[in-house]
Amino acid sequence: MSLNVSDLTPVGTQPVSTRFRRIVTPIPNPESVAEIQWLRTFEPQSMAGMPPILWDSAEGFLVRDPYGNQWIDLSSGIVVANVGHAHPAILSAIRAQLGTGLIFSYAFSTRIRRQLLERLVGLAPKGMNKAILFSSGTEATECAMSLMRKHGLRIAPGKVGILSIESSYHGRTLSAKLAGGPPGLIDGISRSAAFHWQLPLPGGPDSKGFEVDLEARGIGANAVAGVILESIPGWTTTLYPAVYMEQLMRWAKEHKVLVTADEIQSGIGRTGRMFAFEHYGITPGLITCGKGLSSSLPL
Ligand SMILES: Cc1ncc(COP(=O)(O)O)c(C=O)c1O
Repeated sequence: MSLNVSDLTPVGTQPVSTRFRRIVTPIPNPESVAEIQWLRTFEPQSMAGMPPILWDSAEGFLVRDPYGNQWIDLSSGIVVANVGHAHPAILSAIRAQLGTGLIFSYAFSTRIRRQLLERLVGLAPKGMNKAILFSSGTEATECAMSLMRKHGLRIAPGKVGILSIESSYHGRTLSAKLAGGPPGLIDGISRSAAFHWQLPLPGGPDSKGFEVDLEARGIGANAVAGVILESIPGWTTTLYPAVYMEQLMRWAKEHKVLVTADEIQSGIGRTGRMFAFEHYGITPGLITCGKGLSSSLPL
């Protein structure tokens, strides 16, 4: 059955009862319509893209509404629950931390933060020996771009540009949107005015290879501090051509340009390797993680 997500008229469904799936009511459930409508009225439209289902509880790869329906969560909470919803180890870690009474920690030293950072650094390629925690993936990409600019500024005053791939996604704040998003203007700000440039999707119909794309856009290495790219683009979920990545990494090394692998969606085991950049055999300068890193909560 296909659903028009903007239509909240309950539609009768064929009952489903399999090992994991159970559909026993019309969708949306008539009792949920007022609640979903309230959210659609008081939240911006960007929050209304999902089927009209009221999530109530979850376990592993299953999600349930309060009316007896149960689905396989192929969205993984939008690529977050890498180890499933409510993994017992995560629940028990949350409970243990609640038991200490200390549920805030940012600046002061804590053992739990050291343990997590030590683990993260251990997962990263050799030589990547610093890590910092933020509240969201977007914050991590902002920080990566800021670090890349600081790196560029150490080399030359104008080396502050950020290069990224068209129609990728890096988050919702200003620089993240300038790096991601479609090629047009973002919030009325032109990318080049903010020292952002984009290249066509590697391997896509508009790309002729890294070096040709760069030259075609007149982007000089002396103006670029860093490149940020999703190791595997979230929308296409296909690898970039290996030769493209080789050219990019060679160029970056030659011109002292830092490369950030945005692993917020593709990382932490999502693609069968700990980090998706491992598929190319490359080592980026910076890695951003999120989503599956906690499989549930902001860190
Ligand atoms: C590749 C990528 N980068 C950054 C983000 C932003 O992360 P967050 O939603 O935690 O701010 C996302 C989220 O979808 C993402 O997929």
